[in-house]
Order: sequence, then structure tokens, then C-alpha cells
Amino acid sequence: MSDQLADDGAEPVIEAVEVRKTFNHGAVVALDGVTFEVAPQEHVAITGPSGCGKSTLLHLLAALDVPDSGTLRVAGEDVARLERPNEFRRERVGLVFQMHNLLPHLDALGNVGIAMFGTSMGRRERTERAQELLDLVGLDGLGHRRPPELSGGERQRVALARALANRPSVLIADEPTGSLDTGSRRLVLQLLERLRVEEGVTLVVVSHDERVLDAADRVIHLRDGRVVDDEGED
Ligand SMILES: Nc1ncnc2c1ncn2[C@@H]1O[C@H](COP(=O)(O)OP(=O)(O)OP(=O)(O)O)[C@@H](O)[C@H]1O
Ligand SMILES: [Mg+2]
Repeated sequence: MSDQLADDGAEPVIEAVEVRKTFNHGAVVALDGVTFEVAPQEHVAITGPSGCGKSTLLHLLAALDVPDSGTLRVAGEDVARLERPNEFRRERVGLVFQMHNLLPHLDALGNVGIAMFGTSMGRRERTERAQELLDLVGLDGLGHRRPPELSGGERQRVALARALANRPSVLIADEPTGSLDTGSRRLVLQLLERLRVEEGVTLVVVSHDERVLDAADRVIHLRDGRVVDDEGED
């Protein structure tokens, strides 16, 4: 299998084969045999009706849960057989969820810095990297504001900065522009594209937003836990 893939160039960053995931002892089939691949630095959007399995798929990609069957490899690792799942989640994948889970009592710098806690980086190094990331997302000067003192779009950018702290190979985002106005949405989209080009991250973004889908190289459509369409760039 990987020999075949090697013919097409680089190894995929994500390789899902017949991934199945159920809940409630099989009563709810969230993913019903999902197969797809994502190449390094590709920008993929996943869309489909409510309940079709998008968030479930992102949770599996981030190793927050494991498939019932099938295989899912992310950044070279089988997510169901990770030796150090915490390290994988902290260092290999960056996560941005719509409920961005910023800590309200920490300022923006603290929220980004905390992602690097427990790595080999010292305190000063963590703060420097956090500052660099806030600059990157256009929030220089706002490092000492706490989440309640930031707009929704600014908070979303702090969440992005935090997701990138440990230089993940894959950035996974669930409706990253969900609650944003047109201007903030455009900023976040431009930022994602810059991150892909400059930091070399692979982007997997769940969205219903046409502008987010347009920005992607490829759109995977899910329905009832299956891939019903996988449109490439042309
Ligand atoms: N922890 C859970 N326990 C039971 N059922 C769940 C659980 N998580 C998700 N489901 C069910 O699995 C299916 C897929 O849910 P999922 O959250 O992946 O959908 P989604 O495509 O992200 O929907 P939305 O667009 O509304 O966010 C749904 O039927 C949902 O009710
Ligand atoms: Mg969802």
C-alpha cells in the first residue's frame, strides 16, 4: 500500500481506511467506513449535514477517541496504537474547536504559552514563542488581554496561535469561522493559508461556510457517516 502511495510522491499525512465509529453500543453509527488520504501541506475541507460524523472524524484524527474498526494513520502514527497519546495530541496535531476553550483567567500570552507546558521548552522560551505566534496571527500588542477582553475573531486567532505552538504537522479545525463576521472570517482564512505555506502545516477544516470550502484544495462531503464525494482541485 505505501509503495503504491510513494509512486504519487510524498507519503500521506492522513490515511483513513474503512474507519468505523459507533456510539451507544453500536446503536448510533457515526462513521460507517470512511476512506480518504491527505497529502502533506494539503488544505482539505470536510462538509456535510448536521450529524453526518464530521466532529467524530476530527476527534479520531486528534486521537481524542479511537475507531471501532478500520485504520487511521496521522503523521505516521496509528492513532489507535499510540504509545504516548498525550504527547501525540500536544505535539503532532493542533486543534481549534468552535468552543475554543481558552482559559478565561489567563491572558492571550498565557493561553498560548500553556500549550507548551510540559515540553522541553523553558519558561522564557515558551513566552518568546507565544509572543512570536501572537505576532503571526496579527495580535501583537494584545498579549496581555484576557479572553473576555477580546473580540470573537481575536479569540479565534489566539486559539489558532495556541494550536500551532508545538509546530504540529496537522492543524484540525471544527468550524473555525463559525461565529465570525465577514472581516474576521477573511482574516482567519488568510491566516490559515499563510500557515500552510510558511509553517508547512496540513489543514483539515470542517465547515458549512462556502467561503471556507472555496479556500480549500479539496472538499470531502460526508453523509450518514460515509464519504459521498471527494472533489479534488481542478
Ligand atoms: N459521544 C457521543 N455519544 C453518542 N452519540 C454521539 C456522540 N458523539 C456523536 N454522536 C452521534 O454521532 C453522530 C455524528 O455526530 P457528529 O458530532 O460527528 O456530527 P457532525 O457532523 O459534527 O454534526 P454538526 O454539523 O451538527 O456538528 C450523530 O448522530 C451524533 O448524535
Ligand atoms: Mg460537529
